[in-house]
Amino acid sequence: MKELINIALPKGRLGEKVYSMFEAVGYDCPSIRENNRKLIFENEAAGVRYFWVKPSDVTIYVERGAADIGVAGKDILLEYAPDVYELLDLCTGNCRMAVAAPVGFRDDPSRTLRVATKFQNIAKTYYGGQGREIDMIHLNGSIELAPILGLSDVIVDIVETGTTLRENHLEVVENIVPISARLIANKASYQFKNAQIRELTERLAECVAKKQAGAEA
Ligand code: PRP
Repeated sequence: MKELINIALPKGRLGEKVYSMFEAVGYDCPSIRENNRKLIFENEAAGVRYFWVKPSDVTIYVERGAADIGVAGKDILLEYAPDVYELLDLCTGNCRMAVAAPVGFRDDPSRTLRVATKFQNIAKTYYGGQGREIDMIHLNGSIELAPILGLSDVIVDIVETGTTLRENHLEVVENIVPISARLIANKASYQFKNAQIRELTERLAECVAKKQAGAEA
């Protein structure tokens, strides 16, 4: 019998969307739709075993081979640079990494800029590329609070709908990079389960292409 492909999905809304894509191309696992607290689901007939993991942990499972493949945001891939293959842009979970500041903020380039973020490496690379000196303030969430309370001048964070910024009187001052969900693979698994992983990737790629064509029509 064929070995199952172990798939780490990000728990939450994005994971559910992504699972629907896997399901649509033949990798269904009906038990995953049951409302319970289980974290592992498998369907031998379809050759898959899914795990729900914290979104920022997907790359850890995949890099260490506990999962063969997984779905992670480009933000996490840029921030942590895990040693994995990035196989496919799933063109979902679209958002952007941006610099935001209180409405009307005027930057004084001669001063050190205080930057609050969860994404220290992305911020370091971005400001490093501009030769700008910054004081990095590492926070773990509710980043938008920092400039409101005077803890930082700006934030580097994810903007999806822009609602959080608007509701806190902040605005985007610079876009850094577009973000979307990516299919990633463990490097060894990609060799050992090559045919299975490539088949799955090709089917998902077709599904993404069809969706994109539909969206453009
Ligand atoms: C993310 C991000 C923003 C928000 C952006 O936060 O850090 O706060 O979503 O989305 P919007 O543009 O649609 O408002 P998340 O919900 O992940 O929580 P966090 O505060 O823990 O970062």
